[in-house]
Amino acid sequence: MADQTHDAPLLEARNLTRRFGALVAVDDVSFIVEKGQVFGIAGPNGSGKSTLFNIITGVPFRPSSGQVFLSGQPIERLRPHQISRAGILRTFQKDAEFATLSARENAYASAVFCGQSDSRSAHAAAEQALDDVSFDKGRRDRAAWALSVFERKQLMIASAIAGRPKVLLLDEPAAGLTRPEIADLARLVRTVHERGITVVLIEHVLPLLLDVSQHLMILNQGAIIASGKPQEVVRNPLVMEAYLGKREAVL
Ligand SMILES: Nc1ncnc2c1ncn2[C@@H]1O[C@H](COP(=O)(O)OP(=O)(O)OP(=O)(O)O)[C@@H](O)[C@H]1O
Ligand SMILES: [Mg+2]
Repeated sequence: MADQTHDAPLLEARNLTRRFGALVAVDDVSFIVEKGQVFGIAGPNGSGKSTLFNIITGVPFRPSSGQVFLSGQPIERLRPHQISRAGILRTFQKDAEFATLSARENAYASAVFCGQSDSRSAHAAAEQALDDVSFDKGRRDRAAWALSVFERKQLMIASAIAGRPKVLLLDEPAAGLTRPEIADLARLVRTVHERGITVVLIEHVLPLLLDVSQHLMILNQGAIIASGKPQEVVRNPLVMEAYLGKREAVL
């Protein structure tokens, strides 16, 4: 088995499709994420980006058809907690932390959920993750609901990395941030990446994607319309037309 998976990419989606009745939210999507990449995903509202994360992680549903491989191993039939523990963690577009738990407790809960049964090592992982995202040490005992928007983003990422993922899926982390905060978020994504975590980043903020991604994939109506080097992809006429509905440069 080890021989077969030796050269496998870290994450591979093969012909992933998700239907909701007559709607094909994700339509025969295949892509490869290599270890160490920041892999960007963009596309208009409703193009299937979040559904793609949903079916990769099994939260809250599986693909209608197609396969997902982590280091060559099929995972699409695993249960959500098994997928997390295998090394794929995600953040959500909307706040998903436990509002009444502190930042520390949230990161700790994530470490435990991801399989760190020894409480001392789970606490250490939580603290390290909060350090990694430069979370203010004086505010770690605050309830999540009392944090600023940017602190909640830091916490969301810290909670994910406390679970020690191989691949971190970020769903529109820049939503609701100011321009200076987006620059801080870019630094945060780079820090996570430098810690050896491969990142798949869904974003509407194209300058952020261009800043941090090595590869960019564009979805439209559930299907891939362009995929490749970010600077080339945003100049693709299909992307200009479908993404903004007009034949102008996206940037
Ligand atoms: N559970 C569901 N049941 C029915 N339809 C759904 C469900 N989840 C998503 N859809 C539909 O699938 C399509 C893709 O939705 P999705 O949330 O993946 O888009 P998105 O690209 O993430 O959009 P946005 O940029 O607004 O976040 C939409 O038409 C949406 O209404
Ligand atoms: Mg979405």
